[in-house]
Order: sequence, then structure tokens, then C-alpha cells
Amino acid sequence: MDKINVKDIKIERLQQNHNIKHFKSYEQELADFLIEDALNNQNNQISVTYLWFLNTGELVGYVTLLNDRINLEGELKEIFRGKGIGYHSLPALKIGRLCVDDNFLRKGIGTMIIDFSIKVAFHIFEKYSGCRFIVLDAKRNATNDPIHFYKKLGFKELKERRKGTTPMYLDLVSDIKLSA
Ligand SMILES: CC(C)(COP(=O)(O)OP(=O)(O)OC[C@H]1O[C@@H](n2cnc3c(N)ncnc32)[C@H](O)[C@@H]1OP(=O)(O)O)[C@@H](O)C(=O)NCCC(=O)NCCS
Repeated sequence: MDKINVKDIKIERLQQNHNIKHFKSYEQELADFLIEDALNNQNNQISVTYLWFLNTGELVGYVTLLNDRINLEGELKEIFRGKGIGYHSLPALKIGRLCVDDNFLRKGIGTMIIDFSIKVAFHIFEKYSGCRFIVLDAKRNATNDPIHFYKKLGFKELKERRKGTTPMYLDLVSDIKLSA
């Protein structure tokens, strides 16, 4: 399947005047979030949403980012102890929502969105504040499971499982696999 070239994409921070109402996903909750809640959350300083447009103006995907932390427990705690890092938790950037429009799946957009999120995390660290991980709760879906997608990009599963989701993390120091 043909991949979309990064040169054919523009990324914009969500604004009131963006036309988002035609965004479609088999994960209805993620389309609803973008259309109904994303701007409100942003106006309340809870999260920031970025939109991926083709140069033609078509909306093909979005990501919603916020601050978080990862609790060091079990195996992770031991790994970090071994590195001389004894904190109970470490700072992270959270991918709160990530979704590609149904008409543009498997064209590399999701990978571009992860690369962008990694760049945001490094920018935060280089300019402003500590940020060791990217974290997210992957929605488990019987027919279209995104866990393989995240694993391919270097994410690992946290051992704890929650109903319907699998918490995952990317260690920005040890696990980076940028696609380009
Ligand atoms: C998961 C999602 C973001 C992937 O986006 P995408 O643009 O289709 O992904 P990419 O084209 O960058 O895929 C890169 C690779 O990941 C893997 N991959 C992507 N989607 C996959 C799927 N559904 N099942 C298995 N592997 C998948 C493939 O190896 C793919 O490479 P290939 O197409 O060359 O085989 C997209 O399916 C989506 O938005 N789903 C609905 C919402 C959702 O589940 N969001 C995540 C919530 S946690």
C-alpha cells in the first residue's frame, strides 16, 4: 500500500476554525473526542491536540498530548535502580489520544504522528523540563489491535493491565527507533 510522504503533510495545533466534523474512525470514541471534547480540553489547559492535514486540506489524523508520569514498579523499578535511579516515578509525555482517519490507515500517518510526539518530548527536555518517557494506554481491539503498531515503533507493555487497554511506554533514552 502506498505510504504518504511527510512532505505532503502539514501539522497544525487545533483551533476553533478548523473543520474537524467529517473525521471518521472505526474507534467511534476517538472521532467523538476530537469533534466534541478536544478543543474544550485545550481551552481548559488539560491537553493540546495537533491535526495532520494533507496539502490538499484533508484531515487525516490527530494526536492529543498532555503531561504524565510513570510509576516505577516491579521490573522497571529494578532496571532503574540498577542505573542508580531510585525515584518512585519519572516524568513522561502522554499520548492521550491518537487516531488516523479510516480512509488513510496503513499509509504511514500513525508512524509520523509517533515521530512528531517523540520530537515534542525531546524538545520539552532540551528546552524546558525533564521528560524520560512517552506513555499511552493502547485500546485493545479484537479485529484491529494497535499494540503491534506501537511495538513496531519500540514501545513496551507495562505489566499492569486495565480493562480494555494496555498501558505502554517508550523510554526516550533506551528505546528510540525513529522511522526517518
Ligand atoms: C493504530 C493506528 C494509529 C495506526 O495508524 P496507521 O497510520 O494506520 O499506521 P502506519 O501506517 O504508520 O503503520 C505502521 C506499521 O504498524 C503496523 N500496523 C499498523 N496498524 C496495524 C494494525 N491495525 N494491526 C497490525 N499492525 C498494524 C504495520 O506493521 C504497519 O506497517 P505496514 O502497513 O507497512 O505493514 C490506526 O490504526 C488508528 O488510528 N486506529 C484507530 C484508533 C486507534 O486504535 N488508536 C490508538 C489508540 S491507543
